[in-house]
Amino acid sequence: MQTLITGATGQVGSAVLDALLRAGHEVTALVRTPQKAEALALRGVRPLVGDLAVPSTYSDVASEVDAIVHVAFDARAGETLDRISIDTLIAAATRRAASGQPASLVYTSGTWVIGDTLEPAGEDTPLAPPDLMAWRPGHEQLVLGAATAGLRTIVVRPGTVYGGARGLIADMLKEAANGLVRVVGKGKNHWPCVYERDLADLYVRLLASPDSSGIYHANDEADERVSDIVDAIVRHSRAKPDVRHMPLPEARAKLGPLAEALVLDQRIRSARAKALGWTPTLRSVAGNVARLVEEFRDARAAA
Ligand SMILES: NC(=O)c1ccc[n+]([C@@H]2O[C@H](COP(=O)([O-])OP(=O)(O)OC[C@H]3O[C@@H](n4cnc5c(N)ncnc54)[C@H](OP(=O)(O)O)[C@@H]3O)[C@@H](O)[C@H]2O)c1
Repeated sequence: MQTLITGATGQVGSAVLDALLRAGHEVTALVRTPQKAEALALRGVRPLVGDLAVPSTYSDVASEVDAIVHVAFDARAGETLDRISIDTLIAAATRRAASGQPASLVYTSGTWVIGDTLEPAGEDTPLAPPDLMAWRPGHEQLVLGAATAGLRTIVVRPGTVYGGARGLIADMLKEAANGLVRVVGKGKNHWPCVYERDLADLYVRLLASPDSSGIYHANDEADERVSDIVDAIVRHSRAKPDVRHMPLPEARAKLGPLAEALVLDQRIRSARAKALGWTPTLRSVAGNVARLVEEFRDARAAA
């Protein structure tokens, strides 16, 4: 399958790229610099140097591939850049489908769109996103609404991604090694989490299952509280770090709207992914801290 991926140098996208290559996809990756293009070309990827903000740099290629996997994200450009990207990618995939060639478009969202959950949330749970992600359900709907007989559209909602040296869990490992882990609020809230390689496997599975479409949650269903994760990291750390609970008003002042997302209390179920045969190989953060520390060190050494 010929597949275009955006965000292949990021935390989620690099794992998805690895999985696509392992599965035998012919991958084109949109990257922003010739240096990144060179590094990916060495791995057998066809690099496309461009920028999501400039549709002419990728819209033609996007209309020539069997599948588009949109993972790129820029927190500073947020909604605006994501809207340009999905408008361009939807138009490209629609052109391809209209010419009689089947196309697939996978959009990466996240479980934050769901908001706090009173009980374990499935893919059809009504959404109540925090301010930071208030725009995202609309983008999910644009992607889902673009489906036609020849164009299948998929939205993946990962939980907090763990593994490697990037992301919220890796930040905690880094803080622990430096002697102080900061937690927003009391840490009694649940975070749905997913191991990056398991998440990547889901993307491959979705592309390989012609009948899959619609929304797919991706988390390990461990229902871990933030404090479970932090306690396990502290227990494992040689630095014997302190833990500082930052009151929400202070976190709001320091982190802005991200603070509200970090205190979401979410228990999420990934029934639709599991129905495809997707089984996470890692089933919690706390139970895998030793391995995650090793991966963190390896990823930092390789960077
Ligand atoms: N990480 C998580 O825990 C998590 C959880 C749930 C959902 N998600 C969602 O997954 C998506 C990816 O997140 P991530 O954590 O992997 O982000 P990330 O590590 O920050 O990676 C972002 C990627 O987007 C690329 N990018 C940014 N702006 C671009 C532009 N203008 N043109 C082309 N490429 C651009 C970056 O390329 P450069 O290398 O050039 O910067 C990088 O490859 C986001 O939508 C996020 O909300 C992530």
